[in-house]
Order: sequence, then C-alpha cells, then structure tokens
Amino acid sequence: MTQAPVTYARQGEIALICIDNPPVNAIGHPVRAGLVVALDQFAADPAARLGVLYCAGRSFIAGADIREFGAPPRAPFLPDVIAQLEALDKPVLAVLHGTALGGGLELALGAHYRLGLPGVKLGLPETTLGIIPGAGGTQRLPRLTGLHPALEIMTSARQVAADEALALGILDALAPGTDPRAAGLEMGGRLLAQDAGPRRVSAMPAPEIDPEALRNLRASVAARFKGQIAQMTAIDVTVSGAGLPFADGIHLERAAFLRLVDSPQRAALVHAFLAERKVAHLPDLQGVSPRAVEQIGVIGGGRMGSGIAVAALLAGLDVTLLERDTASAAAAQASVAQTLEDSVRRGKLTGDARARILSDQFRTTNDYAALSDCDLVIEAVFEDMDTKRAVFTQLDQHCKPGAVLATNTSYLDIAQIAAVTRRPADVLGLHFFSPAHVMRLLEIVVPEGAAPDAVATGFVLGKRLRKVSVRAGVCDGFIGNRILQACRAAADHIVLMGANPYEVDRAITDFGFPMGPYAVQDLAGLDIGFFTRQRKAATRDPREVVARWGDVLHARGWLGRKTGQGYYLYDGPKPRPNPEVEAIIARERAARRISPRDFAPDEIIARYMAALVNEAARVVGEGIAMRPLDVDVTLLHGYGFPRWRGGPLHWADAQGLPVLLHQISGFAREDAYFWQPAPLLADLAARGTSFASLNDPG
Ligand code: 3HC
Ligand code: NAI
Repeated sequence: MTQAPVTYARQGEIALICIDNPPVNAIGHPVRAGLVVALDQFAADPAARLGVLYCAGRSFIAGADIREFGAPPRAPFLPDVIAQLEALDKPVLAVLHGTALGGGLELALGAHYRLGLPGVKLGLPETTLGIIPGAGGTQRLPRLTGLHPALEIMTSARQVAADEALALGILDALAPGTDPRAAGLEMGGRLLAQDAGPRRVSAMPAPEIDPEALRNLRASVAARFKGQIAQMTAIDVTVSGAGLPFADGIHLERAAFLRLVDSPQRAALVHAFLAERKVAHLPDLQGVSPRAVEQIGVIGGGRMGSGIAVAALLAGLDVTLLERDTASAAAAQASVAQTLEDSVRRGKLTGDARARILSDQFRTTNDYAALSDCDLVIEAVFEDMDTKRAVFTQLDQHCKPGAVLATNTSYLDIAQIAAVTRRPADVLGLHFFSPAHVMRLLEIVVPEGAAPDAVATGFVLGKRLRKVSVRAGVCDGFIGNRILQACRAAADHIVLMGANPYEVDRAITDFGFPMGPYAVQDLAGLDIGFFTRQRKAATRDPREVVARWGDVLHARGWLGRKTGQGYYLYDGPKPRPNPEVEAIIARERAARRISPRDFAPDEIIARYMAALVNEAARVVGEGIAMRPLDVDVTLLHGYGFPRWRGGPLHWADAQGLPVLLHQISGFAREDAYFWQPAPLLADLAARGTSFASLNDPG
C-alpha cells in the first residue's frame, strides 16, 4: 500500500500536518481528501493548540494536479478545503520552502500565518495554463499585497522571491535552515507563547482600486497577451471581487475558473506544459548511461558557434573554440566577450563572474590538438558539406576515443558527415536556434547507427544548457526547418495567386505568431533562402511551383534587415513595406499568366496551417519526429507557434482531422503536387482518431 499523502502528528501542543506527494506535492484528489481528514483531526485534538502545515521533499506545493484538468471535478474541492482551514478556531502556520505555486500558495493564504525558508519562491502561474487562480487567490492575495502587486503577480505569472514576498506581506517571516518541520515548530512555539489566534485573510479589508493604474495595466496586458483570455479574466475577477463581500468574490472566481478549465486555451496550454516534459522521456534511452561532459569544443565562432559557446559557458562548462585562423579566433573571442558583457548589462551575470568565465573557462585556438581532452565537440562552420567533412576528418584525428562529435548543420545529411570518421556511431546533430544562448529549442538529430549513450549525452547536455531537447531523425531540415519550408512554399503560393506579403504576415501574426514568414526572412537574411534554393534547384520535381522573386531581391542586394531593405524597408522607427517588392511580384504573376485575386485572412490561415499540419504529419509518419508532441514542442520553442494554441498538431486535432483533409483536397484541385495529403493524416482521419492518440499510445 502506498503511504498516505497527508499525515497528522503532534509534538506537545503543536499539530504537524505534513503533505508528502512527490515529485512536487501537487494537490490532487488524495491530498485534498487527506487534508480534510487531518484538519478534522486537528480540530478535534484537545491537546493541539496550533497547527503547522508543511511539505516533505524538495518543495512546498506546486499547485493543483494539472493532470486532473479535463476530468470531472471530485469533491472535496480545493476552495472548500481552504475555507475549512481558514475557519478553524485554532491558528495554523504554513511553512513554505522550494516553490509554493498556484493552489499551493492559495492553501498557504488560507492559513493564518506564513513562514518562508531561504530561497522560497511564490507565485500564481495559473494564467500560463489558461486558467485563473481558482481557490481564493484572486480574492486573498490582493487583501495582503494591495490590488496592483497582486494583479501584476497573477498576470505575469512570475515567481516572487522570499524577500519581496516578505516586503509585500505575503510572508510574515523568514527563517534560516532547510527543515520546514523544525522551522515550523520553532515559530509555532513563539506564536503559542504570544497566544496568537487565527488571523483570517478573508476578514481583511478589500483592496483599494486605482482606476488610472488599472487602465494602464489592462492596456499592457491586452497588448502582451493578445489572443489569450486568462490574464484579462484574472484582472476582471479580482477587480470585481474587490467590490463585493468576500464570499461573493469567491463565487465569481470559481465560476470563471471552471469556465476556463473547460476552454480550448486551457487544453492547449496544459498540453504544451506536459509535452515539454514528455519530449525527454524516450523509451529507447531508458537505462542508458550518458557519457560525462565537462569540456566542450566548438568549431566555428560565427553567429551560431559563439552563441553555443556562451550557452555552454553560462552553464558552467569549459569551452575551447576553434576557428580557421588567428584573426577569426580573435573575432570569435571578442564576440563571446561582448555577449557576456550584454548579460552583465542585463543583470543576468556579475562582472566578476564574466571575468572568471573568460579567464578560467574559455579559450580560442586554431589548433585541433587543443581539443584532445574535449568530451563533446559541436561544429558550427559554414553550411557546406566539404567544409564540414574536412572539419570532421580533423576531429576524428585529434579527439579522444568516446568524445561525442556533433554538427549544428541546418539541412545537411549527417550520415555523410559521420562517414568521414572512423567512429560514425559517436556523431550526431545538435541543432541550435539563433541566438543559441537565448532560444530554448535544441533538436537532437540522430542518424541511423548512432550509439544510444552518445544520444543520451546530447539530452544531458541539453538539460544542462536549460534547453528543451527534441529528438529528430535525419532528413532535409529535420523537424522544424522542414516544416518551415512547406509553410514558406504555401505562403509564396498565396502571394503568387494575389495576396501581398504584408497581408500574409498580418494574418499570421493575428493568428498568434510573433512574426510572419516574410518578416522572418528579412530577419534571417534573404541570402540564406537563396543558397538553399540554389542547392535544391537541380533535384526539383518539375511540377513544383517555386516563386522566383526572392532571387530578384537577392540580386539587388536586398537581403533584409542587415542591408536596410528586403520585403520591408528599415529606414524608420518601424519597418514598412518595400513598395518595389509588390511590383516585382506583379511582374512574376504576369509572366506566369496569373490573374491576382483577393485573399481574406481566414483563407490565408487555412492554407498556411494546412500546409504546416500536412508536412508535420509526414514528419511524424516517416519517424523523423517520434510523436506528434515532438513536433508541437519544436514549433512552440523554435518557431514562435502561439503556445495558447498548443502546437500545430494539438491545433489540428482541435479543428478535426477530416476538416483539414477536406480543405487539402480542395486546395489540391489547383496544385495537386503540393497538396498531396500526408498518408498519416489521411489514415488518422479515416480511422476517426487523432494525433493525440499517438502521444499516449499505451
Ligand atoms: N501537477 C501535476 N504534475 C506536476 C505539476 C502539477 N501542478 N507540476 C509539476 N508536475 C510534474 C511534472 O509534469 C513533472 O513530471 P514528470 O517527472 O513525469 O515529467 C514533475 O512534476 C517535475 O516537474 P518539472 O520537470 O517541471 O520540475 P522542475 O523542478 O523543473 O519545476 C515546478 C518544478 C516549478 C513546480 C514546475 O513543475 C511548474 O512550474 N509546475 C507547474 C506549476 C503551476 O502551474 N501551478 C499551478 C497549477 S494550476 C492551480 O494550482 C489551480 C488552482 O488555482 C486551483
Ligand atoms: P557564420 O558564417 O556566422 O559562422 C561560420 C563560422 O565558421 C565563421 O566564423 C567561419 O570563420 C568559421 N569557419 C568556417 N570554416 C571553418 C573551418 N574550416 N574551421 C573553423 N572555422 C571555420 O555561420 P552561422 O550562421 O554561425 O552558421 C554555422 C552553422 O550553423 C551552419 O551549418 C548553419 O547552417 C547552422 N545554423 C545556423 C543558424 C542561423 O540562424 N544562422 C541556425 C541553426 C544552425
């Protein structure tokens, strides 16, 4: 029998109520039920004059059990448990350590006193899951902190550090040490000596409202969380509740909470949260021990190599960066030093830490012998097969046996790179995204025959660098860039048929992406697309429709932001459409005898998303992504897919796969080559099932 998640004990006059529900003490049904029993025991125990509520393990409660959302709610409900706690006629002290989040903080707000241990962080992150605090948080927190700090905490979902929580009045005191039970007994004894009674937050006066500050907050939240419901609902419920008796405020909160729990945005955001954790659960790596990684080599110190070096340095790893000559090595050294300086300016790193990193952890070289002790090397030289193969020939000669040899290639066949070494099983792709020290996605590209412990080492490195690592198979563009190419082609086809690039970008940003495909190309540089197109020209199917205006822009030297113009002009505070682009496109339409027609934003989205989902289904069907959730996480973290839509394949399930398939068949009447339905999509639709069924097959 498993141990009860809530236990009751007494030491002298102090009752000890302990929650022990690993890994994060989430308040699921067994915990709520256990709390009701323990609180009843405390109330009925004549020898107990004060209760201490605390948690075992690494942290106080991380919130309600996310996995229960979507299932029918089961009594006892958390607001009722908290009401029972607060109504006790004997005082309860909550002792908080680790993180006290969501329903966890709400439970603590129902206690009469709150003590924090060093490093504790508090927060109400519900809005990141598409809901609002549903157990009194919107009504109790503002009574302690005032309205605006509470609204800021809820809408930002940030974690508040111990000192700030004390200053805001959320915590009554901080105690040293790491043992919540001991700290609780100590402060409980003091409260008893003072004869302290229950002190109920619900009985405190409602907060004042500052209309001007509220207007400003609403405006900034509307802009920052465009398309999302939860943040504005949190504001509305909190503010309305502040004008009502406490019990009415709680009813209002509960009704809004239950409404949001049933919303598609909640389903999408919880899917994103769980998918981010599931990507690292790989059955074939179960029980595989990774190799040790402390010393890293990076080859090439350009845009990606220097970013990768910074990511590794900030994670405490030792980095040797190799460039092709001393001048390039000096430039790479300066670029890494500058990025670290930017981190100091943004308060992410101290000046001393930067100096220590540069003197003790980092060096540049142009001599491969300097890499002989490296545990793992990441190559980030030009995207050219011969250059990369020459680098790997050198690595094979100089790196120690067992070193993992990785390439950051965007598109090239990793097996061909590995083939120049005598240890192809140690070669894999570690595909970072630009800027590499900022972007959280890492595609771990696994060629056939890669050693499982080399792959496991890639995942351990990803975790150390605080990346979200997704396993990908080898193909042109792996998961993300391959899908992106299909989206870009779809966008180009829409433009060829009559929309302009700015209409496409606007529709895509209105859907929730931070940028549209043409603004992204300007940011990345039109030269990148140009070389990819050139490389592929020889192998193209003659039926493929490929827009050519990009070559015209390239020939004029309009490479996007870096040259001041591309699809947009960058000559003022805001980019504006480049008027000549439309004329160039119009000439191409005329040459192809296309009469342009209008496109409504809905049709643009339908085509763009159908292309995205169709290619994603191919990527899953071919085993390039292991599961649909791997695609979702890739698009969320590397390509700006709106998180509140869950990821493209979660979105596809929500639309209904037969609907998407029907749309694709309609589009295929104009372009049967591009709009071939992916076999997996057709199969799932025919069987009446979903992409989600492949995430949890068991
Ligand atoms: N419910 C269920 N499982 C949870 C959970 C929760 N609230 N929070 C974390 N977990 C699980 C994770 O899924 C993961 O499971 P796995 O081992 O099977 O992959 C495990 O706990 C460990 O989580 P992390 O890998 O995220 O561990 P970290 O140490 O990196 O982070 C954390 C810990 C900061 C607590 C982070 O997990 C987190 O942010 N959790 C969610 C917090 C949250 O959003 N709380 C609000 C919930 S909604 C609510 O409370 C409603 C209320 O108002 C009524
Ligand atoms: P870059 O042109 O900025 O940098 C390449 C660096 O490699 C230069 O500093 C160059 O001096 C150096 N180099 C070239 N040949 C070398 C050799 N033989 N030995 C040592 N150093 C050598 O290129 P960028 O953008 O950093 O790209 C590098 C790799 O990363 C490419 O494979 C690219 O496809 C990939 N990539 C690029 C992304 C991006 O957004 N730029 C994103 C993800 C991957």
